[in-house]
Amino acid sequence: MDASALFKFSSGLYVVSAAGGEHAAACLVNTGMQVTAEPLQVSVTVNKENVTCGAIERAGHFSLAVVDESADMLFVGRFGFRSSADVDKYDGIAHGLASTGDPYPAEHTCSFVACNVVRSLDVGTHVTFVGEVVDAANLSDVPPMTYAYYHGTLRGKTPAKASSYVAGLS
Ligand SMILES: Cc1cc2nc3c(=O)[nH]c(=O)nc-3n(C[C@H](O)[C@H](O)[C@H](O)COP(=O)(O)O)c2cc1C
Repeated sequence: MDASALFKFSSGLYVVSAAGGEHAAACLVNTGMQVTAEPLQVSVTVNKENVTCGAIERAGHFSLAVVDESADMLFVGRFGFRSSADVDKYDGIAHGLASTGDPYPAEHTCSFVACNVVRSLDVGTHVTFVGEVVDAANLSDVPPMTYAYYHGTLRGKTPAKASSYVAGLS
């Protein structure tokens, strides 16, 4: 079996955030997607070892911002390679506050939604959260960053906690 076949699945990059504690937790994911239109629902799949997973469980809500093509590896590194246990990822960057109370980056993002969690599914290493959208807005006209763009143009890597990680292939 050649697991690199899954690299051809199309997806985007998103920052998922949940308020709570001293500061919000947030991380980069490639697992955001729309689930239904009526009611308007999205899902996001987060590794149980990521601080953001527990933060979403405790808060019962989250924001999901669409990363755009202006994002650089500094932005990716902040949200995708550091832990909210060590840093406040929103310290020093422009951000907004959704009606749920969750922050979202207001730079390098072209839109966001915010949701109340209506279902969560334990899928082993990760939890899939389904959220009903209660807030949404467009932020810029910059095209959304696809995972293919991230790999091909930014030459970005896939860390072990990403759903799409395959040992030996990144
Ligand atoms: C390109 C990329 C895609 C990622 N996709 C996911 C994902 O879908 N789910 C996930 O849980 N983590 C994913 N990650 C890893 C988290 O962003 C990373 O573990 C982060 O440091 C966790 O932060 P936290 O502990 O503050 O929540 C991805 C990282 C990168 C760079």
